[in-house]
This record gives sequence, C-alpha cells and structure tokens, in this order.
Amino acid sequence: MSELTWHPIYNIGIHEIDLQHKTLFAMCNNLFTLIDQGAEQHKVEELISDFLGYLTYHNSFEEKLMKVFEYPNLKTHLIEHHAFVAKIRDLLKPHDDSFNFEASAQQRVLESLTEHISGDDLELGSFLAKHIPENVNPRSFVFSEQR
Ligand SMILES: [Fe+2]
Ligand SMILES: [Fe+2]
Repeated sequence: MSELTWHPIYNIGIHEIDLQHKTLFAMCNNLFTLIDQGAEQHKVEELISDFLGYLTYHNSFEEKLMKVFEYPNLKTHLIEHHAFVAKIRDLLKPHDDSFNFEASAQQRVLESLTEHISGDDLELGSFLAKHIPENVNPRSFVFSEQR
C-alpha cells in the first residue's frame, strides 16, 4: 500500500484544522504500515480505535465551529461525520471469514478521509475563513464555553 501523502489541495485554509487533518493522515499511514508488515489483527484494531478516538475529537472540533458560526450546511456535514465514523467503527465488529479486514480497513480509511477533506471540509474551510481572522486560533471558539 503506497503512503498517503499530504498535498496542498487538502489544505482547507484554517491552519488548526489542517494540522488535525495531517495528524489523521499520519495515523492512517501508521495503520497502512502495520497492515503491510502483516501485523496481527488485534494490533491493527488497536490502531483503528486510536484513529477513531482522534477522528471523534476532530469531528467535534469542526462541529463546534459550525455551531458557533451558524454554518448553513451543518446538518449535511454532521451526517457525513456520522457516516465516516460508522464506516470505521464497523471494522471493529465481528465479521465472517469472507470479509477482507485489511483491504477494507485501508480502503475505508483512505477514501473516507481524502473524500471528506477535499469535499465537505474544504467547503467548511472557505466559510470559516470569512469568520475567523487569520491571527486568531479557532481553538479559542471551541474551548471557550466548555470551561
Ligand atoms: Fe468534517
Ligand atoms: Fe475534517
């Protein structure tokens, strides 16, 4: 499996979110390496759990910003996030022997991630860029009310 490389087309224009996406890319590559090395399934599953954990954090980060700035496409974006998480979570459920776990894991993580970033997230990025000044870290909007 070739490595997933970061490309400028994946930049959505909000630095903090780009950094989180890069972390997801790196986790994805760790997962592919583990699979390529023929690691035991439970080890691969462990990494998928970690990926899910970070993905959930990242999704809520975006969701909070969408709510704060009343993003008009919030509903569809939320549906996409749920679908992405469900697709990955499903990998951790028991499957019958005909299920190709490794191939499905690679395909689902790869496709969902790149498609979501270059689609819905890019659109969200252009919206947020109009509301968040460049010198302001969006974290300040996400964590301010949670204290
Ligand atoms: Fe998103
Ligand atoms: Fe995202």
